Amino acid sequence: MSFSNEIDHTNANEEIDFGNMPIANAFYKNQIEHNTFNMTVGFFESCKLVQLKTQPEASEMFNEDYAFITGTSQSMVNHFHNVADHLNKKFSWSGSSVVMEIGCNDGSFLEKVMEYTKNTIGVEPSSNVGDMAKKKGIEIYTEFFGSNFSEINKFKNKIETIYAANCICHIPDINDVFSTAEDLLSENGYFVYEDPYLGSMLSLGSFDQIYDEHTYIFSVTAVSKLAKKHNLKLVDCEWIPTHGGSMRYYVTKSDDAISDNVKNWLDYEDIFISLSNFKFFKDQIKFAGDVLKSKLNSYKEKGIKVYGFGATSKSTTIMNYFGIDNSLIEKIYDNSPTKIGCITPITNIPIVSDSEWYSDKPEVVFLFAWNHRKEIEKKYNFSNSIKVLTHLKGDIESTI
Ligand code: TMP
Repeated sequence: MSFSNEIDHTNANEEIDFGNMPIANAFYKNQIEHNTFNMTVGFFESCKLVQLKTQPEASEMFNEDYAFITGTSQSMVNHFHNVADHLNKKFSWSGSSVVMEIGCNDGSFLEKVMEYTKNTIGVEPSSNVGDMAKKKGIEIYTEFFGSNFSEINKFKNKIETIYAANCICHIPDINDVFSTAEDLLSENGYFVYEDPYLGSMLSLGSFDQIYDEHTYIFSVTAVSKLAKKHNLKLVDCEWIPTHGGSMRYYVTKSDDAISDNVKNWLDYEDIFISLSNFKFFKDQIKFAGDVLKSKLNSYKEKGIKVYGFGATSKSTTIMNYFGIDNSLIEKIYDNSPTKIGCITPITNIPIVSDSEWYSDKPEVVFLFAWNHRKEIEKKYNFSNSIKVLTHLKGDIESTI
């Protein structure tokens, strides 16, 4: 495998080496020999950023086989419909407003935006999900966002809102993203994006946010500095609970004032996102792995089967870092048609339809889709007697 992105980590204050990892979303029907890459991240204290050191080629990760479909989670669909309403309230879109989404997946956000303006544009390199959005009437460009965007001249200075969710952190050339956004935005236009938040990852111990697709785990400090570099300004931000804690950033060309939100989060990060806290995180996740491995082995010795829930991309990091494979977990339930019947990369755990959950009646579940915990526990009627395992800081104590 070749790497598009060998980032200079000489200035990293600390690194974590997670060992060799496959493509996180490489769910195939049969066992194959997976290409792997060494997954190491660096922590950069001055800009409060976590960044992958090497990354597979983008085409290896985002292609016509892309396995994640937003519509498989009703709570995510609701989330995107609410975001569309929220942004419309904030920006008062008119029928002529042009709204673009970078990485629009199946169009769950833009379909709601179409209630306010029909000028919706999706830039989505994965054709399988992009085609779903096209069927909803959204103008789709099957390509990567950046200065090579084929219609850059057509939309220059015309876009009122550029939105992205769980996407910008995937794009290695972040400077190109910001300068292209600057090119495309109208005079008072806003670039709004949300991604997993570094502060939340450190508090929860949710290191599984780190996988091949996530080049960056951002903070308010990092985005504020990036915006400045590209003649833009981070004027607002909102913490949101998706993925256990994400931040929505509002970046603009306009001379709007910087909100107290931004100032407060910058103060918080000055204290909390420190080198010592990152080093603690590094030790803590290693400890979580030791505890979980010994717990899974003791269940095995007692003949108690452990089942997984949610064949998430991020579970690839957990399983491969901790060494949890099909000898410790029987199968993983999932409702994504693209994943059912496949096995997890390298660890070879079968992924089965979530309908099997009801007949198996598991006693112990490893909840890989921990970020959908409420929705899953409710939908699948989890009883109080089911033991739920996760690698998160708050759950590890009940595991010991
Ligand atoms: P995500 O954390 O990347 O959103 O992935 C969640 C995975 O969990 C996805 O493969 C679908 C699966 N899932 C279910 O099987 N049932 C559910 O009710 C939900 C919410 C997710």
